[in-house]
Amino acid sequence: MSKHIGILTSGGDTPGLNAAIRAVGKACINKYGMQTTGFLDGFRGLMENRSIPLGPKALAGILTIGGTFLGTSREKPYKMMIGNKVQDMTDAIVENYYKNHLDCLVCLGGGGTQKNAYHLAKQGLNIITLPKTIDNDVGMTDITFGYDTALGIAVEAIDRLHSTAHSHHRIIVVEIMGHRAGWLALGAGISGGADVILIPEIPYDINIIAESITQRSRSGKSFSIVAVAEGALTREGNSKIEDAKRRINEATKKKERTEIKNELRKLDKEYTGNTVFLAKKLEKMTGLESRVTILGHLQRGGSPSAADRLLATRLGTACARYINEEKYGNMVAVSGDETCLVPLQDVVGKLKSVPLNHPLIQSAREVGTCLGDGLD
Ligand code: F6P
Repeated sequence: MSKHIGILTSGGDTPGLNAAIRAVGKACINKYGMQTTGFLDGFRGLMENRSIPLGPKALAGILTIGGTFLGTSREKPYKMMIGNKVQDMTDAIVENYYKNHLDCLVCLGGGGTQKNAYHLAKQGLNIITLPKTIDNDVGMTDITFGYDTALGIAVEAIDRLHSTAHSHHRIIVVEIMGHRAGWLALGAGISGGADVILIPEIPYDINIIAESITQRSRSGKSFSIVAVAEGALTREGNSKIEDAKRRINEATKKKERTEIKNELRKLDKEYTGNTVFLAKKLEKMTGLESRVTILGHLQRGGSPSAADRLLATRLGTACARYINEEKYGNMVAVSGDETCLVPLQDVVGKLKSVPLNHPLIQSAREVGTCLGDGLD
């Protein structure tokens, strides 16, 4: 009997998701004679049993299209909003998996999706995942699809901001996505020649940034581009957050842990995403006019780049091969030139942040970019 494969996309959308769905579906059907079904809007669609058949017709013409034609959501199987109550819907999802006679469920998503998929794998479901996110922060894979497209969009934006910053002798602060990891801001900042790059991994001191901009100005460059990741934060904010994280680990009582977690959430809100405040403060400190551009969801929209189409197709077709070999409970990952499998338990909780000794950090410093820490 041929296998029946369910596919869903979960978490924030990224360019390349449709290319990946197409690759999994076409390879499963054409090469292995399997049947494929798409579940709508992430894990919620599987819980509500909302699906569409993914035959050759549905899979045609989607390679170049942005977003995910299956729809997505950030809902977790064990924490779903039902009416006005949060409920654990794991059992309903498991029931629908069997009701649909699935042999494997393919989950396409970022770090959160890997965790949710692992949760279902532990319930005995056959699961394989693919890593996607523009943030490029999924652990145990060199790269995720979506990143290259977003990088291209952010670099084009910085290129365009340069000419207007130059004309008006302004500081332009451009906010780039990446709440926990700075891959996108670092990559776009270096490629776009930003003068200052701020990422979550390197807490900044605003005095150092202001001094670097003032020095540029004194040397005749009366404009500056500051590329800031949405999760970048000050040294002060970072030490408060790190302290809260330490206290969560040390807390012995559940109630105490919950209280500190709430505190952490508040601190995170207070200290990250302060781009407008940062620009205003730099304006005051340097005497140069400032403007803010928040790229936001522009970075997630539109047609995937050629590199993302290639990566999504490579991972998607490899996924079909692994399904055929029944290699369940794994994420299909990239390691150098190889496509490999990583057990889900090794992926979960492994945020891939930018290592402080990464060659790109070194390169940024060596071309004179200020990273806000005074080590440049
Ligand atoms: O996870 C990818 C990401 O694009 C992050 O960079 C960003 O912080 C977040 O999603 C935004 O999520 P949403 O679309 O749910 O607002």
